[in-house]
Amino acid sequence: MAAGARPRHARTAAAVRAGGAVLAAAGLVLGGLAAPSATAVTAVTAVTAVTGSAPSAASTDYQAEDAVLAQAKAATNHSGYTGTGFVDYTNTTGSAVEFTVSATAAGSAALAFRYANAGAANRPMDIAVNGKVVAAAVTFPPTADWDTWAEKTVGVDLAAGANRIRATATTADGGPNLDRLRVGAAADTTPPSRPGAPSCSAVGPNGLTLGWGAATDNVGVTAYDLYEHGNKLAEAPGTATSQQLTGLSPATTYNLTVIARDGAGNASPASVAVDCTTTASTDPPPSPPGTPTVSAVTATGATLTWGAATDDKGVVAYEIRSGSAVVKTVTGTPPAATAVVTGLACDAPFTLSVVARDTAGNYSAPSGAVSFTTGACQADGGVPGSPTSFSTGWTVPWGIGWLPDGSSALVTERDSFKVFRLTTGGTRTAVGTVPNAVTTDGEGGLLGIVVDPHWSANHYVYLMHTAAEGNRIVRMTYDGSTLGGYKVLLQGIRKNRYHNGGRLAFGPDGYLYASTGDAQTSSLAQDRNSLNGKILRLTTDGKAAPGNPFGNYVYSYGHRNPQGLAFDRNGRLWEAEFGDSKRDELNLVKPGANYGWPTCEGPCSVAGMTNPKASWPVDEASPSGIAIVRNVVYMAALRGERMWRIPIDGNTENVGTPTSYYVGAYGRLRTVSKVPGADRLWLTTTNADNKGGAADGADRIFSISIG
Ligand code: GCU
Ligand code: CA
Repeated sequence: MAAGARPRHARTAAAVRAGGAVLAAAGLVLGGLAAPSATAVTAVTAVTAVTGSAPSAASTDYQAEDAVLAQAKAATNHSGYTGTGFVDYTNTTGSAVEFTVSATAAGSAALAFRYANAGAANRPMDIAVNGKVVAAAVTFPPTADWDTWAEKTVGVDLAAGANRIRATATTADGGPNLDRLRVGAAADTTPPSRPGAPSCSAVGPNGLTLGWGAATDNVGVTAYDLYEHGNKLAEAPGTATSQQLTGLSPATTYNLTVIARDGAGNASPASVAVDCTTTASTDPPPSPPGTPTVSAVTATGATLTWGAATDDKGVVAYEIRSGSAVVKTVTGTPPAATAVVTGLACDAPFTLSVVARDTAGNYSAPSGAVSFTTGACQADGGVPGSPTSFSTGWTVPWGIGWLPDGSSALVTERDSFKVFRLTTGGTRTAVGTVPNAVTTDGEGGLLGIVVDPHWSANHYVYLMHTAAEGNRIVRMTYDGSTLGGYKVLLQGIRKNRYHNGGRLAFGPDGYLYASTGDAQTSSLAQDRNSLNGKILRLTTDGKAAPGNPFGNYVYSYGHRNPQGLAFDRNGRLWEAEFGDSKRDELNLVKPGANYGWPTCEGPCSVAGMTNPKASWPVDEASPSGIAIVRNVVYMAALRGERMWRIPIDGNTENVGTPTSYYVGAYGRLRTVSKVPGADRLWLTTTNADNKGGAADGADRIFSISIG
């Protein structure tokens, strides 16, 4: 996009809700399993809510006590089992139960093992099909007691005819008590096709109709999600190919994308995007508010009072702005003409004005401006000074990986896939381009980078990038001048236009931590066997790190689109993630914890879900990178166009009041990184992409001293 041609993009995307109910289809397709043959086998017709064309699903039960047992015996000394008993594995490695399962045709199937385990620990078992281990050391975690049964499901491929399914204990604890094997159709993992190109019609000042081409799906499309960049604006039922959007602002460009979803929660690739600009309103806008006066200035806030604006139909909101960034919104009918502004940076100059909004979404011209300086800083842990723009000419710089010299870092560019070495003195040198990287025309591309703590010995550098099949974590070597030696460490992390995560960090434990997005399939965030919507923890060879809570790559789950990772002085991991349309989060990450998405966005009270330590409305933050200096978390905000300062409260798990810096001054802020060995930050912008609207090369990197 040409410099100076930065369009006015939708900023406060009004929540627009579609009426259509979402069908809850189980999405099971039975892959030709045979009718039961043995007496011990019971056919069960699963109750499946399906869309009109979906096939019905069924499953077949095989009782463990009727299977072939090796170092195991049938038992009845606990309650709650099905059939005539259950199997008690001998507590030794190699004890096993083997079922014979018949399938009418070759195909994939889901094996659900019903078990109880009142032992102290997980009792992993290898699952073999016809003599070949297809799922190694599958976890069978403890249940409340020996009368409490749980199910563990494993997806496998079956051959036509009889199949031997063997579950073998891999530790000296033996297997759990095993009640039953239920063989059902494989879960639907096929996403719908990409919806056809969207287009706008019936465009008015406050709404438009978005139409698109229908997507197809093996089971059925249940819904379409309509996105404006990374935020969901509305959804439509799977039968629809158009949707009216209401509550839009006049004369505003919306960049709209459609994504289809099936009943199993699989999301299609994003459609191409369309830019639609609402028409100017014919309704007269409000008069500009009277120039504000300022009173009660403190170190972090002030009270502003202005002259009320007038409007033929009524003023519904005032926005206090710093440049184009909204510092605070006051609503009401009419709204108060005064507000206490909080969360300001200490000892910093502010120039604020007020605009009025009417019922038709029209904005007045801004009021005159008021300037003031906040009071002296008292904060522990230091405060950031004025940024120095020490490196220019960048196009979406994303990852910063410090070299052990402490005076230079490798910096990635998201959309060019290039890596540069940048010194603290501002010298920039190209070192290579990452192969196999592709864009998603959204938030994917070349993302995080981190240098091995033992780089001087091994020259390893780790990168996260989008590739043809999905997102990858890869390792390359940087010999001091050139990047080479590409090796994939982990692939199969699903991608989509938005929500690709992408941050990498080394923990004090020497393991590699990576943040992955939900790829716009929110159910993946709750699936502990999926790599998406997670913080992953891996070895430098790309294996799941030892001690991970679920025995796989997953360290924590229930994340939506996390792009910020940093460790504090106590070795604890902090993480920032983008909310959907309501709240962004700063979390303190613990192994095995569930951070709530998609059930919770921001704080909520749902058992088993961990609340954020701080949260923000998405228009005040939309955070990417975080960094920690002297026990204070700094968070770069894209849509909020500011840097947040969040003090950690001593060695507790709490944080103090967040304050914001540079509101609206430098555009969208992506990455903040601590300079090793100094109380200093690097801060990068993301203005040179289609969302920021600035020309290629318009992004900058700032250096900020913490005083
Ligand atoms: C107890 C329990 C058994 C179980 C065993 C075990 O003895 O009653 O059902 O199999 O513990 O630890 O494996
Ligand atoms: Ca046992």
